[in-house]
Amino acid sequence: MTASTKVTGVLSSGSYLLDGVYQVNRVLGQGGFGITYQGVDTRLNRPVALKEFFPEGCWREGTTVISSGRWTLKTYSDAKQKFLQEGQTLGRFNHPGIVRVFYYFEENNTAYMVMEYLQGRTLADLLRQRGGKLRESEALHYIQKICQGLEVLHKSQFLHQDIKPDNVMLTKDDRVVLIDFGAARDFNPRSSQPFIPTFTPGYAPLEQYGQALKFGTFTDIYALGATLYHLLTGVVPPSAVERAAGIELKPVCQLNSQVSPYVSLAVSRALAMEVQERTKSVREFLDLLQLENSNSVNSSDRTHFYESSQDPWSAFESSRSSAATYESQNRSNSWF
Ligand SMILES: Nc1ncnc2c1ncn2[C@@H]1O[C@H](COP(=O)(O)OP(=O)(O)OP(=O)(O)O)[C@@H](O)[C@H]1O
Ligand SMILES: [Mg+2]
Repeated sequence: MTASTKVTGVLSSGSYLLDGVYQVNRVLGQGGFGITYQGVDTRLNRPVALKEFFPEGCWREGTTVISSGRWTLKTYSDAKQKFLQEGQTLGRFNHPGIVRVFYYFEENNTAYMVMEYLQGRTLADLLRQRGGKLRESEALHYIQKICQGLEVLHKSQFLHQDIKPDNVMLTKDDRVVLIDFGAARDFNPRSSQPFIPTFTPGYAPLEQYGQALKFGTFTDIYALGATLYHLLTGVVPPSAVERAAGIELKPVCQLNSQVSPYVSLAVSRALAMEVQERTKSVREFLDLLQLENSNSVNSSDRTHFYESSQDPWSAFESSRSSAATYESQNRSNSWF
């Protein structure tokens, strides 16, 4: 967190949640939808990251979060359900490139997601430390790693929808981890989740500015392209709205002559405004960057994660019926 980060209405350090199971320590960050704290799981005696649903404009009375500003009781409650649902979704992934979610619960008229605490820094921090940009080989190393987690997410019909250097953590044990799935949305057309726009200009394609245009894996590819653009040039691309109004996107190789022409071209294709012209999948993006798809080559990793979160119960073939019962009970409780 930078010194200028706005911090309002945070829980005080030392507060407990869930009858003492979790202790809240310092604030790690505060964004438009939540506050992230470093905390402790007091039972397992291990550090955790706790994300509290706290949309901008809301305030706190004691420890209770009060919806206000543009948040009506209904929109606040819908967004809180979505936050909880995302906790459940993420809890099904077990991949080194996707932050692990251990638990989620409601308290203080709000919701909390308990995640593994990642020791390290964000890709944005690294960029700042390097004076704004990275060498091509290093940038491609991080993009290849991000692609591993993203491909698993996409295979399970989920989009991240807010990929940017701030939402990628580089850990001390060399993991490159996608965090901040606040905007993650099931892109299954049958999904009935409410639309809550969350995106970062410069990284978000035009379809994220409204509801009428189709979303897809290409939506995350645009953000991934914008992330690589930022890593290689030191600047964030102009927003999709500015581009639609005629502002030119300068090719990467024009801003940094040391970048290979094929890399510059791959970035331009990922950043195509028109979906028809845009790179469609992680695999296609990796091919254009002449990078291997490490998910398929590194088979030793397979034992450590589910390839897909679609059916985590498949490991218990014989308990399918009890799994179904569990899921239907879970859906009928007050959270869903
Ligand atoms: N699991 C984690 N382990 C360690 N640090 C984390 C973890 N999750 C988030 N952080 C830190 O907290 C900061 C803020 O987290 P995050 O990106 O999830 O939320 P945000 O951007 O502040 O909020 P919003 O969801 O409203 O956009 C990150 O930049 C990172 O430094
Ligand atoms: Mg973030």
